[in-house]
Amino acid sequence: MKKTYQFNFIQYDDLSHAPQDIQDLMQLAKEAREDAYAPYSNFLVGAALRDSEGNVYTGNNQENAAYPSGLCAERVAIYHAAAINPNAIFTDLAVTVRSPNKKIDYPTSPCGACRQSLVEYESRQKSGIRIHFMGETGPLVEVSSIKDLLPFLFDSSSLL
Ligand code: THU
Repeated sequence: MKKTYQFNFIQYDDLSHAPQDIQDLMQLAKEAREDAYAPYSNFLVGAALRDSEGNVYTGNNQENAAYPSGLCAERVAIYHAAAINPNAIFTDLAVTVRSPNKKIDYPTSPCGACRQSLVEYESRQKSGIRIHFMGETGPLVEVSSIKDLLPFLFDSSSLL
């Protein structure tokens, strides 16, 4: 039997075409991005996570001389948020990147480890988190759930 997997995404030509609330959230991600600590990669990432009450929690990548000890912006944001508001229902995560070395005018999506971490919170809250991602400029992509970025995912339903 052959099965196919499909997922949907929305692409806006640039940020100005996105809904105003997403533009606002992305603006906070951009501001967070500029405070990233990325002296080794020079790849600055900012994330802004919004919950159902309208609270916003930001994060940015935090690097370390022992490279694997650093952490991506998306995980900094969601761990920050869950630490201070464990009952939050997260609705939207905006992510943006910038590099002084090259113009990034295409969407860059969360890495595999961040996808797995985000799945945990979707499973915990039993609802999807829309993910919006873009470069410094250029198109903005939106998916309605991290599950669209991680087919055949592994979560607590496999264990419990
Ligand atoms: N990075 C993120 O913050 N998010 C991602 O999804 C991809 C990569 C960071 C990790 C590291 O500090 C730098 O970008 C280069 O990989």
